[in-house]
Amino acid sequence: MNVEPTTESALDTGADTIVVGVFEGEDIAHDLPGGALQELLQSGEARRKFKRLAVTHHDGKRVILIGLGQREEFDAERARVAAAVAHGRARDLGAATLCWEVPHHVSDDVIEGLVNGTILHAYRFERYKPSENSRQVKTLLVSAHHDVSEPVRVATILAVAQNRARDLGNTPSNDLPPSVLAAYAEELAGRLGLRHTVLGEGAIREEGMGAFAAVAQGSEQSARLIRLDYDGTGGAGNGPLLALVGKAVTFDSGGISIKPAGSMHEMKFDMCGGAAVIEAIGALAELQAPVRVMGLVGATENMPSGQAVKPGDIVRALDGTTVEVNNTDAEGRLVLADCLSYARREGAARLVDVATLTGGIVVALGSTYAGLMSNDDAWATEVLGAADRTGELTWRMPLHRDYADMIKGRYGQIINSTTKREATALTAGEFLHHFAGEVPWAHLDIAGTAYDVRRPYFPDKGATGFGVRLLVELARAAGQPADM
Ligand code: BES
Ligand code: MN
Ligand code: ZN
Repeated sequence: MNVEPTTESALDTGADTIVVGVFEGEDIAHDLPGGALQELLQSGEARRKFKRLAVTHHDGKRVILIGLGQREEFDAERARVAAAVAHGRARDLGAATLCWEVPHHVSDDVIEGLVNGTILHAYRFERYKPSENSRQVKTLLVSAHHDVSEPVRVATILAVAQNRARDLGNTPSNDLPPSVLAAYAEELAGRLGLRHTVLGEGAIREEGMGAFAAVAQGSEQSARLIRLDYDGTGGAGNGPLLALVGKAVTFDSGGISIKPAGSMHEMKFDMCGGAAVIEAIGALAELQAPVRVMGLVGATENMPSGQAVKPGDIVRALDGTTVEVNNTDAEGRLVLADCLSYARREGAARLVDVATLTGGIVVALGSTYAGLMSNDDAWATEVLGAADRTGELTWRMPLHRDYADMIKGRYGQIINSTTKREATALTAGEFLHHFAGEVPWAHLDIAGTAYDVRRPYFPDKGATGFGVRLLVELARAAGQPADM
């Protein structure tokens, strides 16, 4: 979708479809000649209630009147929802060029919401099957009295990056093994002029990343550690270095502790954390944000084979910790453990990891909230703040010595899985905590929010791209001079 800001009034733009919003208790700011929209409201056909739609015509154009509810309640999230609802109707009616008439006196956040809500709602995954509905809005115009090019630019970059993360998530593992994900990241880095390094499986093992390598060894597909560096500080590079760490298990069969067949196919989505990290770094570069971040993505399959790691095997992680692999299906934490140690070794002073890590978080929070665990209250507050601003619902879950005690090892220092099905999201959190140590760290368990989530601006099925906007927002906020 082509997106353009304009200061022309919507009717003059040449758009075939115009969206006009109206708040509760307010009149239409710019009515159609003859007061047609006011009339529509008076007739009761159109309402000011949030998300209510009415359609009329003027001068050969369609005009969609949408209720925006109370002005005070109309935030970025409501803007995304309103934009999605309006886009859905416009598309069904065959709109090719859609123009949003931005309501007066709204914040840049709301304008961003209108834009990214439209782009996110227009997403379709058509790599293997064209959509039954061939209708498609080609251009979105954003009409306002003042210059809105900056919020339009930001929102477009973010939504397009999120849609690319969805493409990565939806692509099945046969077409997105670690080598292909790494090639994709390298291509992106090349295009954006980012420093990038990719380690192959041999290098991962030689580096001493024995936990990561243990997961990788069962697969015919060679693993990759993908590193992307973005420095938008012009080399000043001051402030604590932020590392974004992503789990990219391109397929999680469970390994020797194999999963039941029922929904195993969903485990192609087990790389969504890594996809979010890659696209967040890409978006920061496109935005030219004045921040410095390192992206680290551990990409591997988790497969059973004659070479696969076996329950009871003891491996040595990069930081020297000996880990008993009691359950080969608790593989994500093994990959992330070494990525976290690697990030620390490379100078990271702030850590965030994003991973589809446990079924336990889905039991606790469903697909509504992602779970956050952190060893640092101030850092957790920053992450929650970013999540709140982007509408990517996140709820803090506890860490506790008790959970750490549950993963103490009998033969090695720690175990990767307990036998009891208790607090699995939290023992996973404590496992990662062991490797993050004292460095301010936040862990986002997105097992519930990475795919198949109901939101008005998401498709019902498939990858959501959860985390892309959150990570970008966090990096931008944490990179503010106030924090340096
Ligand atoms: N990738 C899964 C977690 C997952 C579950 C993601 C459901 C998305 C939806 C992870 O690798 C896993 O298998 N976790 C196990 C850990 C257990 C063996 C301790 C789990 O949560 O069941
Ligand atoms: Mn698993
Ligand atoms: Zn997994």
